[in-house]
Amino acid sequence: MPISDSLVTVEITEYQHSLSINRPASGLSLQGRVRVPGDKSISHRALMLGAIAQGETQIQGLLLGEDPRSTASCFRAMGAEISELNTELVRVQGIGLGKLKEPVDMLNAGNSGTTMRLMLGLLASHPDRLFVMTGDSSLRSRPMSRVVKPLQQMGAQIWGRQGGSLAPLAIQGQILKPIHYHSPIASAQVKSCILLAALMAEGQTTVTEPALSRDHSERMLKAFGAELSLEPETHSVTITGPAQLSGQKVVVPGDISSAAFWLVAGAIVPGSELLIENVGINPTRTGVLQALSMMGADIQLENQRDVTGESVADLRVRSGSLKGCTIAGDLIPQLIDEIPILAVAAVFAQGKTVIRDAAELRVKESDRITVMATQLNRLGARVTELSDGLEITGGMPLCGTDVDSHADHRIAMSLAIAALNATGTTTIHGAEAAAISYPDFIATLQRVCG
Ligand code: S3P
Repeated sequence: MPISDSLVTVEITEYQHSLSINRPASGLSLQGRVRVPGDKSISHRALMLGAIAQGETQIQGLLLGEDPRSTASCFRAMGAEISELNTELVRVQGIGLGKLKEPVDMLNAGNSGTTMRLMLGLLASHPDRLFVMTGDSSLRSRPMSRVVKPLQQMGAQIWGRQGGSLAPLAIQGQILKPIHYHSPIASAQVKSCILLAALMAEGQTTVTEPALSRDHSERMLKAFGAELSLEPETHSVTITGPAQLSGQKVVVPGDISSAAFWLVAGAIVPGSELLIENVGINPTRTGVLQALSMMGADIQLENQRDVTGESVADLRVRSGSLKGCTIAGDLIPQLIDEIPILAVAAVFAQGKTVIRDAAELRVKESDRITVMATQLNRLGARVTELSDGLEITGGMPLCGTDVDSHADHRIAMSLAIAALNATGTTTIHGAEAAAISYPDFIATLQRVCG
């Protein structure tokens, strides 16, 4: 059954949504204000810390995507009372540290790596309880050894396919001991998993990473009352257990990873101007702004303010010409989720863009290096796959055709933005994946193209 207007058509079949974008021959421009949904990383953490704290946590602006829904349903299954999810006010009645109940069935993290990896730390530290965790086919193929190994060093007992590296995973909770873990990768999921496991371990646990990853866990754990110290020069964080956590009020800012789609759309579609309101600009997340600024994009930060421990601003983007650049090194963890949409920006930039040091993209919801290269090339772009990134020669004209999200939300939305500058009709199969992090994406696209 197609829902359509002249520009955007959604075809819904039993299995898939196909999103068709029919760019008018006369072109289009994007105008207006956009409010992006709540930050996914902060939404997960607010639900989790709320569930294990003492007393009530109130969350405003929660992301209503599929991923936080998975987190909420797992914690409900372990005894936490979480009110119906909405953006106005979600109340979480914390059951207290160490009090999660043994669930009567498997915990299902759906598509969400953050749910599975962060929860593993918490579950491993609940003695005398057995937990079994699974997820969808994408999550069951993603590496879990990166968190299982440090947890085992703390004394955790975890079993899974391929030596404990793939879900489903069984976790027999234990009293854990503190460690100093030198993570081989800059990953907020690894760091957060260990910090959550350490909440009940007696003594000091330190995580050192090769580059700084997003620090929402550190900020929120401190706000909930944990004793935490940071050593920025060595990218280290130390937590002292056992912690005392008490419920808080959390206001979730808009997700800069969702704002990135409109930043790039506004930059590449000629004649556009968009104001993206209430976007979280935590410095560990703003790599996308740095990368777009290197490409020459016209983006201004307005109305900067602080909201419950996180910086927020409105972002104004105006279209203009872009130039290629190199994105690599320590900047990568600060824009890791935005690389698919930055690749789209690069396709419309003059000259070459090189993205390196981003091998992590191969183990996201899909292999984002291969999928972005193949799908953009189908549209006529010139993209070469590197082992750890992409090389993109910008300025090739794109021509609409059928492309596939590979069930990856960020790929679906990135391809939709690319389609705005492709001639004719582009059909994105598997566009329903956008609901993982941005349920209103298609409606917003229709409105700003209006
Ligand atoms: C996230 C951390 C990142 C990111 C993911 C969310 C988090 O993963 O890609 O979408 O909320 O901690 P890694 O920590 O594996 O890089």
